[in-house]
Amino acid sequence: MRYPIYRPRRMRKTERFRRAIRETKLSTDDIVMPLFVCPGERVREEIPSMPGNFRLSVDELVSEVRQIDALGIPAVILFGIPERKDSVGSEAYSPEGIVQRAVRAIKSEKLGVIVITDVCLCEYTDHGHCGVVRRTGEAFTVDNDATLDLLAKTAVSHVEAGADMVAPSDMMDGRVGAIRTALDEAGYEDVPIMAYSAKYCSAFYGPFRDAADSAAQFGDRSSYQMDPANADEAMREIALDIEEGADIIMVKPALSYLDIIYRAKQEFGVPVATYCVSGEFAMVKAAAQRGWIDEKRVVMEMLTSMKRAGADIILTYWAKDVCGWLAERS
Ligand code: PBG
Repeated sequence: MRYPIYRPRRMRKTERFRRAIRETKLSTDDIVMPLFVCPGERVREEIPSMPGNFRLSVDELVSEVRQIDALGIPAVILFGIPERKDSVGSEAYSPEGIVQRAVRAIKSEKLGVIVITDVCLCEYTDHGHCGVVRRTGEAFTVDNDATLDLLAKTAVSHVEAGADMVAPSDMMDGRVGAIRTALDEAGYEDVPIMAYSAKYCSAFYGPFRDAADSAAQFGDRSSYQMDPANADEAMREIALDIEEGADIIMVKPALSYLDIIYRAKQEFGVPVATYCVSGEFAMVKAAAQRGWIDEKRVVMEMLTSMKRAGADIILTYWAKDVCGWLAERS
């Protein structure tokens, strides 16, 4: 017998051979584009740590979403930068809030694109925490159950404005159930929830917090976001969210948590989303701008690895680039 008998290289000879046995194929269908909406008119302000991403006023946002829709990207997710912040994040659930106005403006265009809204208080509170804060001297706690009511109100107001799906990212216990109940009571039984179920307390959110001006003014988010060291706990978080009515579960960030994506898909078999976050974007961008790495190849490899791990949906600031790169390939 001559060895090797099985020669994997036989199937790697040409791109056509490689394509024939390619197991994971990234597609425009997998992508969601995050967008930041801010007050004003004709505002298109580039976010310094996220080149190519902007804070957009509602009018500019609408033309951006029109382009995204024309590219065939299935969905956008909106983050609001409000006119004013207060201790209980009132602008998050005001009918005239920035996200509510943005959703109404997009929806009046009658585009096919799915409009998802991020549901959280941190962009709307003056202290920057994701919920209601109780302070006692130097110490503070984020009041879980008091926050649930505000999150539920926020979600309902987004849906009243026309949002197609809501995505709670606060990490309070029981918020998926609270939002599901509130939506059902308001007659929105058919509006799905994408839950940020395994959201880690990550240093990779830095550029986003600059973009949304949402950094915590004291303390950090480790009493509600997950410890990066934990994987079994992520499975418990996901199980709870599914039980409470989540239609899609999310793992966030993406690249450092591929094992969590993999386990989530294997153990639950539900639609899994992952968020390739601002810090992942910024570090690749910075290296690419110095000519140290090939941005297109690195990004396609990263996103393919997320899909290979088990993600069905990828939230990424490279959404538009990816569409272009995929079109070049075929
Ligand atoms: C709001 C929220 C954050 C992100 C998405 N939703 C920030 C945070 O938790 O501090 C981060 C997204 C990114 O970094 O791209 N809670």
